[in-house]
Amino acid sequence: MTTGTPLWEFVDISKAYPGVLANDKVNIKLLPGSIHGLLGENGCGKSTMIKTLSGVQQPDSGQIKHKGQPVLIADPQVARNFGIATVFQEFSIVPTLSVGENIFLGNMPRSRFGVINWAKVRNEAARVLAEMDVDVSPDVITGTLSVGEQQLVEIAKAIAMDARMIILDEPTAALGEDEIDRLHQLLRNMRSRGTAILYVSHRLDEVERIVDEVTILRNGSVVRASGETKIDVSEIISAMVGEDIGEHYPKEQNTTENVVLEAKGLATKSGVSDASLTLHQGEVLGLGGVLGSGRTEIARALFGTDELTAGQITLKGNPVKFRREIDAIRAGLALVPENRKYDGLFFNFRAGGNITAASLGGLSRFGIMNLKVEEQATRDLIHDLEISSQAEEKTVNFLSGGNQQKIVIARWLFSDSEILILDEPTQGIDIGAKVAVYKLINKLTRAGKSIILISSDHDELLAMSDRIAIVQHGAIVRTVKAADLTHSDLVRASDETSHIKPQEIFA
Ligand SMILES: Nc1ncnc2c1ncn2[C@@H]1O[C@H](COP(=O)(O)OP(=O)(O)OP(=O)(O)O)[C@@H](O)[C@H]1O
Ligand SMILES: [Mg+2]
Repeated sequence: MTTGTPLWEFVDISKAYPGVLANDKVNIKLLPGSIHGLLGENGCGKSTMIKTLSGVQQPDSGQIKHKGQPVLIADPQVARNFGIATVFQEFSIVPTLSVGENIFLGNMPRSRFGVINWAKVRNEAARVLAEMDVDVSPDVITGTLSVGEQQLVEIAKAIAMDARMIILDEPTAALGEDEIDRLHQLLRNMRSRGTAILYVSHRLDEVERIVDEVTILRNGSVVRASGETKIDVSEIISAMVGEDIGEHYPKEQNTTENVVLEAKGLATKSGVSDASLTLHQGEVLGLGGVLGSGRTEIARALFGTDELTAGQITLKGNPVKFRREIDAIRAGLALVPENRKYDGLFFNFRAGGNITAASLGGLSRFGIMNLKVEEQATRDLIHDLEISSQAEEKTVNFLSGGNQQKIVIARWLFSDSEILILDEPTQGIDIGAKVAVYKLINKLTRAGKSIILISSDHDELLAMSDRIAIVQHGAIVRTVKAADLTHSDLVRASDETSHIKPQEIFA
């Protein structure tokens, strides 16, 4: 690690939004050749700092220094000219453009006469993708890729700039373990070439693996800056939350013998090839597998989103056929979808309207919304999930990324379904809110509801599931008790490229 003059420095930077001081006299030093973790709960001011350093907005007061000299980052182009590349928390790719075009968007290689050099766009994009070990063609239309692949394109865009400072705001929220490992390797390579890296993540396991130093924010202020001394995860958590959060995975056993849902031999055009599963009342059934293995597609098949080409679903012994999602909702199913970066929020509604949107009509037997019930239920969920208190007054587009996500979860929890399919429910939410989601899972299963949990966080999946169904290439290849599995069993069993069959691992 290099010491000496920081490449970038914040000196007493403050930034207010209407009604909230998002950054309060923040100081940070970003060194070349170092990965700096920026941590803190949802809404503590991380993205605000990043937007300031990327020239998206101006601070109200304080100074930004580049190699010791005060500078003005008047707009995003100035930031790029300084060699700053940013992967924002929200996607900035254009879904209708090709991968190559997105990678060079705003920065197209041109000939001396100003004509875009398409061969170079394609070759350079292919080079960057290969360096990242991403198997996607530069010619593919970006919107047709999975969320995870789109996220990798977003990252490729920053890598292609050959930046001296690279900022990543929650880059791994949509990635699987494999992609995360590859991204980490790439960042390590960049670090050894002297790049300064600022890294935001709510997954503390990866923070522990990759960062050299950390700065922790709470309510807009720096509460801890590690410098180069290593601090461990439990210290990080208590600095973030300001108190002890207790058991990280408070799992209760609520499984019964009653079968509530059974699926046999499901197949869809979207890639489900042979999915059979049994879900008991009060059970949490985890779906394990790598990104792209078909877990989300199985969820969509169960929920009536994608049409079944084969197979049968039964609910409490009765065969059912869902033609559309509404049929599944009426039958008591709910799905918290994965790709929340695009889906699911009405950005100009307040939290209340968003939370109750899934169950309009469900609130009153006569189809009239009962406002009192809505208000009380909304308030309870905002409290349980520790959603920012601003959520009650402000529209959703003014909330931090993590708080927006909690609202999507709240909506489905509110809908009072018997079977909940949760697809990556804790991506991008802070540690306190994760524990709140786990407690809600307990509360739901205790009340006799059943849950299908999809998670790329292996520790979470192992700790919170009763049984885990392993998904490979759209098929459920094996279902085992979570207690019988170790982290490395799960990784090996999920690996679609290995020739070891899950049977052999569990034998
Ligand atoms: N455009 C905006 N207008 C008004 N308030 C905003 C705006 N953007 C953010 N805020 C508020 O500023 C505070 C800091 O938000 P910020 O997005 O920086 O949080 P964060 O640390 O990135 O959180 P997360 O982990 O959820 O992404 C929050 O209270 C948020 O509601
Ligand atoms: Mg943020």
